[in-house]
Formats: sequence, C-alpha cells, structure tokens
Amino acid sequence: MRLCVALDLSDEKENISLAKSLKKCDVWLKVGLRSFIRDGKNIVSELKNINDDFKIFLDLKLYDIPNTMADAAESIAELNVEMFNVHASSGKTAMKMVKDRLSRIKNPPIVLSVTALTSFDENSFRAIYNEGVEKKALQFAKESYESGIEGVVCSVYESLMIKKYTNDDFLTLTPGIRPFGYAQKDDQKRVADIKTAYKNRCDFIVVGRPIYQAKNPLDATQKILDSLKEI
Ligand code: C5P
Repeated sequence: MRLCVALDLSDEKENISLAKSLKKCDVWLKVGLRSFIRDGKNIVSELKNINDDFKIFLDLKLYDIPNTMADAAESIAELNVEMFNVHASSGKTAMKMVKDRLSRIKNPPIVLSVTALTSFDENSFRAIYNEGVEKKALQFAKESYESGIEGVVCSVYESLMIKKYTNDDFLTLTPGIRPFGYAQKDDQKRVADIKTAYKNRCDFIVVGRPIYQAKNPLDATQKILDSLKEI
C-alpha cells in the first residue's frame, strides 16, 4: 500500500513548502485541478526538482469526447507524471482510446478512473445515472477494467468488491483516510483508518488534511509510512 499526499493547500507556495518538508519521504503527491489551473503545468517539474523520486498523480478527472480525451492524455504523458485519472462515465470508447493512444508512448502514466463522485447522495446520483451508486460504481469499474484502465478511485469499503469483480491486480486508490482517529472527519462521510484500508486491499491511500493540517506534517507523514511498514 502506497501513501499519496494531497497537495490541497490554498496557494502554490504552501504546496511547495509541504512538498519540500516531505523531500526525504517515499510518497506520491496528488496535484488537483485547482493547483494545476492556478499554478500551471510547471508545478510538476517544480515538484520533481524537489525530489526526482516523487511520483505525481495528476487528479484532473478527464471527461470529454474520446478523441479530445486521448489528445489530453497524450499531453499529460508529456508532463512526466506517473498517474492521472478520467471519468469512467466518459464510456468505454473514450477509455479505450486513451489507453490505445498511451500505448504508443514509452513508459506511459497509469490511468485510473473515477466511478462515482462521493459528493453525490443516492438521490442526486439516481437523477443522473438512473441507478443506485453501488451498482453503477461496480458497472463503471468493470467497464474500466475491460477498457484496459489500470484501476479506480473508490471508497475503502468498495475496494474488495471491485477487485473481486475485476481482478486482484486492478488498482484501488482510496481517499477518506483518517490515520489518527476519526475525530477529524472533516467533510468526508465514509472514513477509514490505515488497517481498514489494508484489510480492504487498497493499493493507494490518499491523505490530505491529516497531514497538512498537522502541527508537524513531516512527523505525521513518517508515522503513516511507519505504520504501512508494520502491517
Ligand atoms: O483532506 P482529505 O484527506 O479528506 O483529502 C482527500 C483528497 O482526496 C482531496 O484532495 C479530495 O479532493 C480527494 N478526493 C476525495 N474523494 C473522492 C475523490 C477525491 O476526497 N471521491
């Protein structure tokens, strides 16, 4: 299980100084839409300049017509990020085209898909997809797997089921992790600790606030990395 730290701070300087403080840690860094739009694509090289071993997950959640998504995927690959994501609801044709385009590139990034955004409740999800969240999320996961996508972003509690209906090697990346207890749940609805993530065979855990809001983000990160070694 790998730790992915969400760089969700309110400006570029703060994100960079968080990354600098984690310079010696074996972590992935998640760069989201806000930071990418605000700080530009150079944010990736700036992070790599801090530590060339940082792995970058570009969380842009692509959703467009297949050719536009494939074009965007190709441009993302040129940024030298290790992973990015698309919406599974963009469909199998789009996901296959993204994978096909990347197959022409040496060392292409891993592609994950987003099944159901956690901001949807059951009713608002049904209004768009005409199906319950769990059933549709599983269908999206299967379609992603069949399209050659390497894994999904999902909740800890869906990870095992998704692996069961796809493949053991199909990756799961799970936000909503609260490594130091659930007291600080923030806006996450279904939170889990590291042991639960491990039991549910999550491949990546994404942690944001429990790290960057900690008094000492480096200590918090090291504690998490130590507990990953212990389990
Ligand atoms: O601060 P926290 O640990 O809750 O951050 C989780 C990160 O994962 C945030 O960047 C959030 O946008 C992202 N995320 C999520 N739920 C999803 C997809 C992404 O919390 N379904």
